[in-house]
Amino acid sequence: MGEQTAWRFTAGWGGMSTRVDANDRTDDEGSTPVAVQESRVRAPRATRATAKGDRADTGCAPMVIAFFNQKGGTAKTTSTLNIGAALAERGHSVLAIDLDPQASLTMALGIDIQSLELSSYDLLIDEGVTAAMIAQPTRIPGLSLIPSHPDLAVAELELLNALERERSLSRKLSPEARKELGARFILIDCPPSLNIVSINILVAMDYLVIPIEPHPLSIMVLPRLFDTVARVRRLNPTMRNLGFLPTKVHGTSRLAKEMIVALHENFPDLTVLPSIPLSVQGAQSVAQYSSILDYSPRSPVAEAYRQVARELEKAVCP
Ligand SMILES: Nc1ncnc2c1ncn2[C@@H]1O[C@H](COP(=O)(O)OP(=O)(O)OP(=O)(O)O)[C@@H](O)[C@H]1O
Ligand SMILES: [Mg+2]
Repeated sequence: MGEQTAWRFTAGWGGMSTRVDANDRTDDEGSTPVAVQESRVRAPRATRATAKGDRADTGCAPMVIAFFNQKGGTAKTTSTLNIGAALAERGHSVLAIDLDPQASLTMALGIDIQSLELSSYDLLIDEGVTAAMIAQPTRIPGLSLIPSHPDLAVAELELLNALERERSLSRKLSPEARKELGARFILIDCPPSLNIVSINILVAMDYLVIPIEPHPLSIMVLPRLFDTVARVRRLNPTMRNLGFLPTKVHGTSRLAKEMIVALHENFPDLTVLPSIPLSVQGAQSVAQYSSILDYSPRSPVAEAYRQVARELEKAVCP
């Protein structure tokens, strides 16, 4: 009964149509989000050393995909890690950027945050630091990382006086910087907040993916998310929304089925990506500092993340 009430509230939500989704495009927008020239230039050692059969020369520009939802615990970090691993498994050179002061992605990849000399904090705050200077290889072949540090929590205050503070990240992910990085996919693990760091991510990204878990509250937070995206659109008019990524989905759960129906009803123009099943293996793989693809390669969760990676690959570079 409680569940039904929540979804009905959602379904009756007039203001939540796709009119405010991130795919609204103005007439002068092209289909390629960022005019980045195809490149075969030298990549930094960190990225290049780990790339397995790099497919960066397929003719598609390097793309930034942000896994964003201001709600906590929707599997943003787990999805960034495993989709990164799945894209790397497909032969792409992938860079993940941890932009959450919790540094969950950094720790999940077994990196000791105490010993970091540079982190995503420096990327945002220090004009002289480039992304290529910070990117480091991970134990997952083909996946490199710009790690995070708890210092990132104070970036908000430090950015207050910065010139064009919303564009700090996008300046660091310029076409030239992307060439230098040599990564075909740049995946951003976002913090569970709507702050200046989040705004920087929304301004810098080409594509948005919204991890969402089957819970009535998940849908209730979407108006604020889309409102923020709509406000940021002025600064990033070519961003595209690749859709929702349902996570922690229990196959037989009525809650999950109802959420997916509600997403289709409320956002008919947005894609609902393949669901990621609920499984304890996700947490178990983190305990091994590994991806689920490595820890349990044939598990339903690993297969689901592979499927999502294929979908994203198709959407970004058809
Ligand atoms: N498919 C899954 N099945 C079961 N548990 C999962 C699954 N994916 C993620 N989890 C668990 O859910 C919790 C939250 O996941 P995660 O840290 O990826 O979310 P998040 O959105 O990044 O959180 P935050 O908002 O705090 O950054 C973790 O304990 C994680 O192990
Ligand atoms: Mg996280």
